[in-house]
Amino acid sequence: MPSAAIVLDPSFTVAPVSRRTFGTFVEHMGRCVYTGIYEPGHATADEDGFRKDVLELTRELGVSLVRYPGGNFVSGYRWEDGVGPRSERPRRLELAWHSVETNQFGLDEFVRWCAKAGVEPMMAINLGTRGVQEALDLQEYANHPAGTALSDLRSEHGAAAPYGIKLWCLGNELDGPWQIGHKTAAEYGRVAAETARAMRMVEPDLELVACGSSGSGMPTFGTWEREVLRECYDLVDHISCHAYYGDDNDDPASFLASAVDMDRFIDSVVASADHVGAELKSKRRIDISFDEWNVWYKDRSRLTDGDPEAWEVAPRRIEDEYNVTDAVVVGNLLISLLRHSDRVAVACLAQLANVIAPIMTEPDGPAWRQPTFHPFAITSRLASGQVLRVQTSSPTVVTEKFGEVAAVDAVATYDEGKLAVFLVNRSLDQTIEVSVDVSRTGVSTVDEALTLADDDRLAVNSAAQPDRVVPQPSTATLEDGKLTISLPPISWTALSLS
Ligand code: AHR
Repeated sequence: MPSAAIVLDPSFTVAPVSRRTFGTFVEHMGRCVYTGIYEPGHATADEDGFRKDVLELTRELGVSLVRYPGGNFVSGYRWEDGVGPRSERPRRLELAWHSVETNQFGLDEFVRWCAKAGVEPMMAINLGTRGVQEALDLQEYANHPAGTALSDLRSEHGAAAPYGIKLWCLGNELDGPWQIGHKTAAEYGRVAAETARAMRMVEPDLELVACGSSGSGMPTFGTWEREVLRECYDLVDHISCHAYYGDDNDDPASFLASAVDMDRFIDSVVASADHVGAELKSKRRIDISFDEWNVWYKDRSRLTDGDPEAWEVAPRRIEDEYNVTDAVVVGNLLISLLRHSDRVAVACLAQLANVIAPIMTEPDGPAWRQPTFHPFAITSRLASGQVLRVQTSSPTVVTEKFGEVAAVDAVATYDEGKLAVFLVNRSLDQTIEVSVDVSRTGVSTVDEALTLADDDRLAVNSAAQPDRVVPQPSTATLEDGKLTISLPPISWTALSLS
């Protein structure tokens, strides 16, 4: 059997585990909000119309933060449509996803939902059709304590205490020609700088995210980051990255190595940001907000559910059904994000419910976990303390997209005598025995060993079979500071030791 070896040393650290690595994303898109997290009349709905089954699953998923309300949606959104008495809220054409927005859920509901879910809100601002003034209005409504028109309006709407939203995205994917209000880097950099400057006049300590490229494949990738940051480097804290991976070409070997691409993407954006910092002789460091990432089979599911010509309320949009292979890739992408904890400050799995999501629901029906739910939930539960630098020697697999890559990829975290190790085997057909030298960590017991794998790599969960794919206990032995475990092909594994 091929073998791999890993050495861990708790004195070789990357950075503390950031809880914000475990963010997700709620967009007014398809059924993420309506019949996803919000469905008055559902058997589990609470007094606010929030689905309690989804709230429970959100807590189980270990979500720390939620980005809202878009996505492409935010670039045409008027936030004030979604506050105040529900009967007076306007119905609007929603251009990004070709639907009708009823505005029955808005900022006030979102902040209440976040409190119930125990997550931090991350708010995106419309810099597509709007600008500085509307951003300031939203900030005043959300965060000013009292005594002004908009803060008093919030009070009238039942929320006397300010929301204290700290983390704000300055627009969304404005490099993309599909974006409402699409801009050049110079145009966007300027409006981002102006908006950031004005918002900081009210609250100097906000955390602001400038839009990076909407993907590393964009023709402007790299120059966009440089030009935007030249305009707003000293006014923002983070630059965004977005990445979606899918096996669109029936090339599972390359798909399983998607984290190689994520590693390179992060390294390139860090290099671009640091380059601008050096040019400007700035002492400031810009980190990454990886605020959209996931598996997304775009070609298969973009607007193909329902009638794409009809203007409907909460139509089914990109409700990807994830399988075992997708879950292994999601687990590996989390490994990549954790390994970059020194520069990735925020990350959001896109999205939370129904729309390319770990949680699925049926209107009036059940909610269940997709296979991708599990690696996210378990990593969020076990990762703590410091991320360790992991030295791995592994057999390789050959991929069309990335050449020869390591078959085994891993990351580990260490927290006062507790060690967590996350591993993937990206080989399509070979079991690999991994030995991990944990002698320097002082651990002596394997508390938990869970593996997600299946003889059918395309197996999925469904409303009828919600637990067809779940991680299973696996056997790991620990002797004389050496941990040994066999990783089946196409598998994701989590180990917890103390
Ligand atoms: O998450 C779905 C969409 O993907 C978002 O609206 C957009 O920002 C990205 O292109």
